[in-house]
Amino acid sequence: MSISKKEYARRRSRLMELMEANSIAIVPAAHEKHRSADTHYAFRQDSDFNYLSGFPEPDAVLVLVPGREHGECVLFCRDKDKEREIWDGYRAGPAGAVADYGADDAFPIDDIDEILPGLIEGRDRVYYAMGRDANFDKRLMDWINAIREKVRAGAHPPGEFLDLDHFLHELRLFKSAAEIRLMEQAGEISAAAHCEAIKACEAGMYEYQLDAIIQYHSAMRGGREPAYTSIVGSGANACVLHYIENNAKLKASDLVLIDAGCEYQGYAADITRTFPVGGRFSAEQRAIYELVLKAQKAALAELAPGRHWNEPHEASVRVITEGLIELGLLHGEVQKNIDNQSYKAFYMHRIGHWIGMDVHDVGDYKVHGQWRVLEAGMVMTVEPGIYIAADNEDVEARWRGIGVRIEDDVLICKDGHRVLTAAVPKEADEIEAMMAAAKNARAEQPSLL
Ligand code: GLY
Ligand code: MN
Ligand code: MN
Repeated sequence: MSISKKEYARRRSRLMELMEANSIAIVPAAHEKHRSADTHYAFRQDSDFNYLSGFPEPDAVLVLVPGREHGECVLFCRDKDKEREIWDGYRAGPAGAVADYGADDAFPIDDIDEILPGLIEGRDRVYYAMGRDANFDKRLMDWINAIREKVRAGAHPPGEFLDLDHFLHELRLFKSAAEIRLMEQAGEISAAAHCEAIKACEAGMYEYQLDAIIQYHSAMRGGREPAYTSIVGSGANACVLHYIENNAKLKASDLVLIDAGCEYQGYAADITRTFPVGGRFSAEQRAIYELVLKAQKAALAELAPGRHWNEPHEASVRVITEGLIELGLLHGEVQKNIDNQSYKAFYMHRIGHWIGMDVHDVGDYKVHGQWRVLEAGMVMTVEPGIYIAADNEDVEARWRGIGVRIEDDVLICKDGHRVLTAAVPKEADEIEAMMAAAKNARAEQPSLL
């Protein structure tokens, strides 16, 4: 299962239809990042470049030239090189870029300085994501200046630069049927991995060992890379929103929050579950957990075409504020607490974000100053949370250090929405039952510790 060559071609055509007459789009690939000596960080292709080409290598540039006689899709890439391929791995080479990746025309990347100015010359407009890669920005300006130097010889440099992101990210926001299938798969794989982590959890393990379980079970199902660095926060660590140290020992009396998701065929999942290390929620932990779950359900109820982006957030704020007042963690009128944002001491982030090729995916949240209206094909996360800081002296000590987030990935469909990550339980009773069954099964087997 992956994106077909036809779909990549369709994406390029749709972008070219959005481009104004006599223009050119330039999209560089990601670079390898050096780590030390002969070692690099794991390479991940730039999502925009990948969306338009599916080409997996670094040192490449995609150029779209609508109406070009010798082919509209031009790819510059590393040339074949027997010696380098023995050391560093296979290369498609220009011939492979045409045969296997649907480029109309391809050239060695080393020839780009000679060839690309010729493709730009005579075009009125350049579509490019300026400001993302300072080195490439400068190279582009060098190519443009090379054309400008030849105006007296009749050269026609482009006069307008347009932000490619604006057009391309609007396309990426709406997922095709094939993309939805991959996102469903990413969701299912990540949900299965979360279930395994919940079942394997024992006091005495380290947070990073729960992450190891997630990574193992994701990879065994084809989700080879994480979509982001996992957050595994036990106890008060769960109150650090982007906690990634993941090095504390799990205590039976603590909750543990796991925020983790795999990338499957270039598409992300993003799931959070929070559960008791010892298998049973305390009264306070359960009260906070049930409140977050209620807020998530209220937010989910707002998800359908025609609703605007902020509605699920507002629903979650109302439920959480009401609940915190009932529990004695906030005081006074609900509306006053909402208006003066006192709930933000406990719920300081928004309900979610777009998700797709990137975990925090591209796409505008406001259009012409108004919250965006939800439409079929958009995918977003729904992830309310309550985080009671360990040093919050405004609340009774029994509440301090409890952090809970519950996060799912949701597709907006014509008739409402579909949760793509529903296969991991979130009812408190279900989680306790799952952990109790796993504990019984484990009693028959030697411990991993
Ligand atoms: N995993 C980061 C987030 O939930 O947004
Ligand atoms: Mn998220
Ligand atoms: Mn998350």
